[in-house]
Amino acid sequence: MNIRELLNRLGVPRSSGRITARSPIDGSVIGSVAPTPDVNHAVDAAGDAFIRWRRVPPPRRGELVRLLAEELRAAKSDLGLLVTVETGKILQEGLGEVQEMIDICDFAVGLSRQLYGLTMATERPEHRMMETWHPLGPVAVVTAFNFPVAVWAWNAALALVCGNPVIWKPSDKTPLCALAVHALVERAAHRLGGIPAGLCQVVFGGARTAVALADHPGIALLSATGSTAMGKALAPRVAARLGRSLLELGGNNAAVVCPSADLDLTVRAVLFAAVGTAGQRCTTLRRLIVHNSIRADLVDRLKTAYASLTLGDPREAGTLVGPLIGRPAFTAMQSALEAARSAGGAVHGGGRVMVGNWARAWYAAPALVDMPGPSPLMATETFAPILYVTGFDTLDEAIAANNGVPQGLASSIFTRDLGEAETFLSAWGSDCGIANVNIGPSGAEIGGAFGGEKDTGGGRESGSDAWRAYMRRTTNTINFGTELPLAQGIRFETP
Ligand code: SIN
Repeated sequence: MNIRELLNRLGVPRSSGRITARSPIDGSVIGSVAPTPDVNHAVDAAGDAFIRWRRVPPPRRGELVRLLAEELRAAKSDLGLLVTVETGKILQEGLGEVQEMIDICDFAVGLSRQLYGLTMATERPEHRMMETWHPLGPVAVVTAFNFPVAVWAWNAALALVCGNPVIWKPSDKTPLCALAVHALVERAAHRLGGIPAGLCQVVFGGARTAVALADHPGIALLSATGSTAMGKALAPRVAARLGRSLLELGGNNAAVVCPSADLDLTVRAVLFAAVGTAGQRCTTLRRLIVHNSIRADLVDRLKTAYASLTLGDPREAGTLVGPLIGRPAFTAMQSALEAARSAGGAVHGGGRVMVGNWARAWYAAPALVDMPGPSPLMATETFAPILYVTGFDTLDEAIAANNGVPQGLASSIFTRDLGEAETFLSAWGSDCGIANVNIGPSGAEIGGAFGGEKDTGGGRESGSDAWRAYMRRTTNTINFGTELPLAQGIRFETP
């Protein structure tokens, strides 16, 4: 495959610089971009764009997003392939990621006619009280390599219809995906016409660029997706200037499997959740908490399922597991497995697999680790396909194990017992932002709000009412009478 032809079709101009994009499929260099020297110019341009964009009626703003969805539909196969080439996720997932962009654009177009506020009853006669939602200001979106286009779309589609310019800092590992999306945005903007320059921009650079955006008073909202360490470094800087952050950070997601669970369904769900995207989703299933009465049976079934996985070139139909993003990910995986062995875990799989003669690519067999009991090492998120298995006897014990990690992103329970399912979803059940029944923790749809608690950062992106994070709320009280009654019956009159 000729990467330049693919980029040409996507309208990506030639560029070069010291940020090098490598395909994890074979380790080859596929392009490079220059870091943005400083973000001030971009933030100023976004500030200017904001002055104009906030006055554009929201449904007209939605029209830009509708046209972007059209561009994405037309470019779906090329952009999906580029996602696969730059991240190593299998083509089905690359295409799925573009579909997710299309879905959130469609959602945002509808939303552009639904940015509603409430009216509240007022105690004062001939008064009306209501709230209105207004654009917030420039939004910076920092994204990770594993969802190089969809996470931008979750944020940008909402931010744009809410009236905000967007500055995107993609991962240094996936700059070409960002350039391709930017080219599609420009096509949509050109078709609509009258779009202020600076409405959608991309800046490149490592942590310094993210820090510069976090520190800049011209950024009204910093939305950051990535590790907990990254969030803990950026959020206090935004808070120090009383800016807003929206954080979607690490996950350490568990599934509880109860005795009544349909084990065929459970195995299928666990497989997608634990090894999909080579274990590199924020929502990847990392801990399986199984009732002791069915544990041996489930582990055997999973070993058989793992043995049948097709690992290889993610562009090929039939491949289910592609490469890790790079050598550091492989090394981290091996260290975690070594620690698990030292803690008495029985490790199945997990070794390096050579694909072709690609010595610079890092393919690893997904690992299943049967642990003798709970271990502190399971509290750490290793961004690789490692699934730890532990047992439980009571549901309370299982819920405590589910919640007993610093992160709080996604969780599932597999059961046919309504009481168990509802308990898991209740206020004393899973403490995660996502709690599912009889499906795995990963593979969210855009209609729901996405994010989690504790070390996951507390932010919500995508569906439901996540749009409110991108707007400012004003409460309005209108007196349409001739008297001036004060609230709480206060009398304040001159003699
Ligand atoms: C992610 O953000 O890592 C995954 C989202 C999902 O699985 O739906």
